[in-house]
Amino acid sequence: MNGAASHETRSQPNGTPKGSAIVRRTNRFDPNFTQHVIDTTGPKTSPRIRKVMASLIQHIHDFARENEVTVDEWMAGVEFINEAGRMSNDVRNEGQLVCDVIGLESLVDEITYKLVSEADSAPTATAILGPFWRADAPRRDMGATIVQNIPDGDHTFIQGIVKDYLTGEPIEGAELDVWHTAPNGLYEQQENQVEHNLRGRFTTGKDGRYSFYCLRPISYPIPDDGPAGKLLKLLDRHPMRPAHIHFIVSAPKYKPIVTQVFDRRDEHLANDSVFAVKDSLIVDFLPREGDPKAQFELAYDFRLATFEDAKKYSLVGPTEEKASQSTVDGNGSRNEQALNMIGAKE
Ligand code: BEZ
Ligand code: FE
Repeated sequence: MNGAASHETRSQPNGTPKGSAIVRRTNRFDPNFTQHVIDTTGPKTSPRIRKVMASLIQHIHDFARENEVTVDEWMAGVEFINEAGRMSNDVRNEGQLVCDVIGLESLVDEITYKLVSEADSAPTATAILGPFWRADAPRRDMGATIVQNIPDGDHTFIQGIVKDYLTGEPIEGAELDVWHTAPNGLYEQQENQVEHNLRGRFTTGKDGRYSFYCLRPISYPIPDDGPAGKLLKLLDRHPMRPAHIHFIVSAPKYKPIVTQVFDRRDEHLANDSVFAVKDSLIVDFLPREGDPKAQFELAYDFRLATFEDAKKYSLVGPTEEKASQSTVDGNGSRNEQALNMIGAKE
């Protein structure tokens, strides 16, 4: 192909010099082209970008060769990406959705948070953030409800302790940022609900305890009226997510976790459209007695690792270093640290 095949005897796409008789070659495509593209990277490129981009170019060229991707097919792919971009705005992240349905956010979550613990207990498992988190959820009093102006749904009391995963000591000043959908399967920013409905932030006291009222979550379809939905249909898949509640749990000096808890009763646990379910995050909502404000209850403790402990056992990437730094310096809000952790904010 072009690039690598230089000078006067520029190759045909199959590597056959112009004018010569057709000769069958072992390589159907120019064997030097990919390396040539990689080698055009300049000396001022950072080592990480150099490594990641070389790998990306290699894999994407191999993919095109292996599948003999045609110009029409490639253009359809480009249009798919462009459409996802056009559909994205402040309240919709179609690019992230597309990544979710091919399992990429879940895989990156697993890679980022891999923590090989030799202790009996491990930190609470992580799960994907998804596109519906909001940075500005209101702070609410401990024990308050996050439900506003919703007539139906099963009211639920959730309580537990945020603790250090190694010592079991309660963590004072830990923040829980929580969000889930309304009984119609929509997050507040997807329709005209009361602003910040079904989301809130709670801060633990000395005993590390938290509690709040919410609704028992229900399964719901991810938005499937755009490219991510088209992809699901092409793959003959459904858009459903099992019932879950999202959390970001953070505390000074501790590595924040982004996670979800899933209702054991849900029929979609084994076929989540975005592959986020982990066994240790499946929980039991139990009937609640003697509380006129709730029909169900859930007890769930969160176990966090200090940055120091996390570093001993985990892969530490650049985003983690950044989050660690901002904690040590006391710069930025805890949400900013959590976002740094998940690479969602620079
Ligand atoms: C969510 O759970 O909010 C979600 C995650 C991935 C894609 C769409 C929604
Ligand atoms: Fe969700």
